[in-house]
Amino acid sequence: MKKNYLEIKIQDKIAWIKINREEKLNALNISMLEEIRKSLINLRDNKKVFVLVILGSGEKAFIAGADINEFSKYDRNKGLELAKKGQENVLDLIENFPKPIIAGVNGYALGGGLELAMACHMRVAVNTARMGLPEVSLGLIPGYGGTQRLTKLVGKTNAMEMILSGEMIDSQKAISLKLVNKVVERGNLISSITELAKKIMRNSPNAIAKAIEAINAAEKNLKGFEVEKEKFSECFESKDFKEGVSAFLNKRKPSF
Ligand code: COA
Repeated sequence: MKKNYLEIKIQDKIAWIKINREEKLNALNISMLEEIRKSLINLRDNKKVFVLVILGSGEKAFIAGADINEFSKYDRNKGLELAKKGQENVLDLIENFPKPIIAGVNGYALGGGLELAMACHMRVAVNTARMGLPEVSLGLIPGYGGTQRLTKLVGKTNAMEMILSGEMIDSQKAISLKLVNKVVERGNLISSITELAKKIMRNSPNAIAKAIEAINAAEKNLKGFEVEKEKFSECFESKDFKEGVSAFLNKRKPSF
């Protein structure tokens, strides 16, 4: 029987997705990538879910990278296939997901693990987390979008240093580089993410999805101002808009 690597719990409109391969520090293999993709597609259509959170199991790691054993004998073609599976099927899906996805960086986020966290819309890290893209130490470069997303998030100067040295940084450095949104004590990780999710969930799900699209357009050097105008105007057709404005005018809380 195929092993299940994900544990998913839905509570109060938050889907908590736990990567469950603690003995290998949650290193990502192909089956896990496929499972993550399938689960995300289900959760996208699940009306009971507004915000998603991805966490690693155990205290040590969020995700310590792609599974080095699995790709150890790959050639160029298999390498390209792997990059496509990771980048296009999973990380691009995360980045363009219409519901907010928060990474709870509960320990090592290395290689593909940091790449996955960077594809999420926000990152909350424990103060003992360590992050890095050490692929050059294996004779590789990041292949799940890491050279692109890290450069966008922390700028070329810092991305060059992190990727070329392959060294890990701690959470304090990560927040100073704006690689993470927040750093918290381990014991406060879940409550802090819940608090952030609750702030988001007060708002219109339709508007949140459009905002993600418009912000991503800026990231990808698309015609962001055009995308924003289009998404802004689309909002006027939504029932969330009617509810949000009516609630404001009637001095009550909106119910989306
Ligand atoms: N792929 C496959 N297995 C991995 C892995 C990865 N990316 N990262 C960790 N593991 C496995 C280890 O091989 C070990 O398995 P074993 O117990 O069967 O030997 C287990 O997870 C525990 O890791 P270990 O190295 O013993 O823990 P540690 O505390 O000594 O070191 C790290 C932790 C994160 C520093 C170290 O595991 C590491 O450097 N991992 C690889 C990171 C990396 O290069 N990622 C990018 C991949 S592209």
